[in-house]
Amino acid sequence: MERNVMQVKEKKDRYTVTYIPGDDSGFDVMEAAMIVMQALNPPIDWVRADMGWCMWEKSCKEYPEGDPRRNTVPPETIEKVKNSDATLMAAITSKSGVKGFKSAILQLRQMFDLYINFRPAKLYPGVSTPLKGDPDINIALFRENTEDLYSAVEWRPLPKEMFDLHPGMERFKDKSEVAVSWRVYSKEGCDRIIRAAFEYAKANGLKSVVNCNKANVIRATDGMMKERFLEIAKEYPEIEAREENADATAMWLIKNPQDYQVIVTSNVFGDILSDEASQLIGGLGFSPSGNIGENTAIFEPSHGSVPKYAHQYKINPCGMLITAAMMLKYLCLDEYAEKLEKAIGDTLVEGKYLTYDIWRDRGDKDWETKAVSTLDMAKAIASKIDPDFDKKADEICAKAKEMCAWEHLV
Ligand code: IPM
Ligand code: MG
Repeated sequence: MERNVMQVKEKKDRYTVTYIPGDDSGFDVMEAAMIVMQALNPPIDWVRADMGWCMWEKSCKEYPEGDPRRNTVPPETIEKVKNSDATLMAAITSKSGVKGFKSAILQLRQMFDLYINFRPAKLYPGVSTPLKGDPDINIALFRENTEDLYSAVEWRPLPKEMFDLHPGMERFKDKSEVAVSWRVYSKEGCDRIIRAAFEYAKANGLKSVVNCNKANVIRATDGMMKERFLEIAKEYPEIEAREENADATAMWLIKNPQDYQVIVTSNVFGDILSDEASQLIGGLGFSPSGNIGENTAIFEPSHGSVPKYAHQYKINPCGMLITAAMMLKYLCLDEYAEKLEKAIGDTLVEGKYLTYDIWRDRGDKDWETKAVSTLDMAKAIASKIDPDFDKKADEICAKAKEMCAWEHLV
């Protein structure tokens, strides 16, 4: 039997998981996750690693400009990720226009060939959609994660000899500056993400898979993806295969989200459509994501590191916790995942211990005074998992704080 890539390669009694607190508010939500994880107590040995802007700054102090050791991802982190069954990371800070800086997660996606970016958008109990009529939203989005405009094959300025490669470049010859980013697709790259989407639909008894492309305009790349989609669909006659223009998808997602079960799309369109889909389920604060490949997987919430709130424990821990639940499912620890998801849902429905954004998005005019901290919301969730949590809370919280210490990095 072919391996199910959405699950860990080898089932074990205990797993090793690398956790990466990342940058800024990433530390806050990872600390929240470690409180909840201790209450849940899955069979996991946690290994700390660091990466992101914090490691970029550290390596810039240690190594001169141009030295390849100046990086957001230190070699120890790569080793730890390699030697773990899975990795759980919080948000990292990316900055554009910094010479030599490369996004940490983009490097890991390519280094570990994590070709699936799995971004489900499912409405949690107690969270409402901004859409009228409360449509049922449960969309599994599969974004290709290693190719497309993210291949980093780019020129600025475009070297002279490149202008002769294609007659279409003629009209750019007299421009003052020309930049080009290549959109690279491979047949293998298309096939494996399309198969992952169909296999997921099949395994979960879902009836349709939609490919979003711009094959009508971008003929070479999206034309190939569309062709491969229609070809591979023949292997799954029980599943309805639909292909549509990605711009139309952006519109239909708002109008008729219930028409989408599984979406499979390219890297850039998936980046955009997944952010849009997350708005349908209460925003990026509730949106998990998994970077999955044949050998390992890295799970990260979709939201950013919100530097302005760094170490203030303001932001919503749900994205991080829903991401942790996704990782538990990958590790075949479904009972733990379900317990965690239920505790998150119960806390949201109970509606007492919520971070500011949740109150605000519920339209509560007293959202600022009602808001609790990231850690208090995590503690409320932890006590839904373990009725004895309050007795152990001090010890657990101290341990979580120690696990996510950041002061030594600055
Ligand atoms: C995401 C983010 C990343 C991406 C950035 C931070 C590199 O937007 O994971 O969706 O573009 O893939
Ligand atoms: Mg994005």
